[in-house]
Amino acid sequence: MVKKNACIFISGEGSNFKALYKYSKEKNFPVNIKLLVTSNIRAKGVIFAKKVGIPYLVYKNNKLSDEFKILNKIKQHKISIICLAGFMRILSSNFINVFGKKIINIHPSLLPKFKGLNTYQRILQNKEKKTGCTVHFVSKKLDGGKIILKKFFYIKGSDNKKTLKIKTQKLEHTSYSQAIIQVFNK
Ligand code: GRF
Repeated sequence: MVKKNACIFISGEGSNFKALYKYSKEKNFPVNIKLLVTSNIRAKGVIFAKKVGIPYLVYKNNKLSDEFKILNKIKQHKISIICLAGFMRILSSNFINVFGKKIINIHPSLLPKFKGLNTYQRILQNKEKKTGCTVHFVSKKLDGGKIILKKFFYIKGSDNKKTLKIKTQKLEHTSYSQAIIQVFNK
């Protein structure tokens, strides 16, 4: 199997990045992670990238000149897919157009419900019965691109923001890789 090259975009913890890295080492997983982009130089995911020898770049903002530098590196690394994983910036439409290939994102809710930030708090306030995560294509609309897959679990009366985050992220760590397999098997 000839694997495609992936670039992961992060801003923080990078737990999804780490999970994807683990899957990427499997023979039949469709991608290898060749590059990391971070909007935060202090992100924990950067420490992991250094440890495993994945080159990284810092994304400062969505000014044309900055995005141009990132796009150039992405081209050099022959990247076929960008996976946003906790990336807290909004890519410009120019970036999306110029890259012209697959860009996917993982969101901690069952989209189209609870787009945007503070998802766990809003889910609890709304007394939802279930929640989960969604992997979707990135379009110019925030959290609005075509859905690739959703996974859910039931919320318990004892759940709070902390437990919802733990349960959601556990589900994300397997769902993101499943979504990538699905994207390349079509
Ligand atoms: C994830 O829960 C993801 O859904 C959201 O940001 C979080 C990132 O977590 N977009 P991590 O950095 O992968 O640990």
